[in-house]
Amino acid sequence: MVYIQENISLKPFNTFGIDVNAKHYVSVTSIPQLKEVLKLKTYPRKLILGGGSNILLTKNQDTLVIHINIKGIHIVSQTENDVIIQAQAGENWHEFVLWALNNNYGGLENMSLIPGHVGTAPIQNIGAYGVELKDVFESCEAISIENGITKTFTKTDCQFGYRNSVFKQKEKGKYIITSVNFKLSKKNHKLLTQYGSITSQLETMNIKTITIQDISKAVISIRQSKLPNPKEIGNAGSFFKNPIVSKQVFNKLVSQFNDVPNYPINENEIKVPAGWLIEKAGFKGKRFTSHGVHNKQALVLVNYGGANGLDIFELSKLIQQTVNRLFSISIETEVNIL
Ligand code: EPU
Repeated sequence: MVYIQENISLKPFNTFGIDVNAKHYVSVTSIPQLKEVLKLKTYPRKLILGGGSNILLTKNQDTLVIHINIKGIHIVSQTENDVIIQAQAGENWHEFVLWALNNNYGGLENMSLIPGHVGTAPIQNIGAYGVELKDVFESCEAISIENGITKTFTKTDCQFGYRNSVFKQKEKGKYIITSVNFKLSKKNHKLLTQYGSITSQLETMNIKTITIQDISKAVISIRQSKLPNPKEIGNAGSFFKNPIVSKQVFNKLVSQFNDVPNYPINENEIKVPAGWLIEKAGFKGKRFTSHGVHNKQALVLVNYGGANGLDIFELSKLIQQTVNRLFSISIETEVNIL
């Protein structure tokens, strides 16, 4: 049996904390329940909600919101070196990372403290501090919204890219991911400490023999120092993707500023941090009445309390236009605007 509720506030279910209503709402905790809901003909329009950490709600949702709360973590198989773990879509991402670390399974530690649920992680190939979901991904199961049939997607099927996958392209809006299989290491863990400030953070923590648990602690400290806790200040992490620009555009930028942080992608393309561009455009820490740009990381737009989703959306457009006018670079949103 499923219980459909009417006119439910989505405020507790989106990390931006935007108070809009769902016309119809259902929380599903099992695959049979999900299949039952998908069969209902009364609700042709459906919105699938996971951890709500990558959406900006700009209006009441005149749909059936299906909230995926299917839980469970188990070992599928293992060898001497590796283990395949299956986590259900409704598991909280960070709690899953902590579970892996408690069992001394390696591979997820650099992605500690990313908000959201396991099931939505593959959609945008979440990543942080030099690791992306695709590096530990084995496969996922997904249910077709149209006919309720389950399909397994391999890593190749998912076509992962930078904050991108087949679920944002060809299969957009067609599937609900119900579980993800991860391949994690049991020993000889790869310790990825090169990215950003992990090494200096580990030094500050005075750690000599580094473990995966230490890397997780370092990542947590760095994130807590830069990124607002959604439980205190509403936000959806990086609002924009880092743009990949041509050498020509990059050289023009370097002629204006000699300190442009950059990550070469190939011979002709360079990734430039959008946060840096937004800061140079003067938006960092800018506060409007109840919304603004975070003062420690300009990529993050925030709701100080009671903000309207449309106001945040307008601010995002102003930022895009200003960055484009000043630097001739377009920055795309990472967050889904609904
Ligand atoms: N920077 C600034 N000003 C800012 C923000 C950043 O000058 O306001 C500069 C930093 O000094 C640094 C560079 O930009 O030189 C990169 O900054 P940072 O390491 O903080 O990473 P990012 O590129 O801004 C990306 C991800 C984050 C992820 C971090 C760490 C995207 C869109 N964002 O941010 O992901 O945590 O790297 O790996 O790729 C998320 O997706 O929600 C998210 C938080």
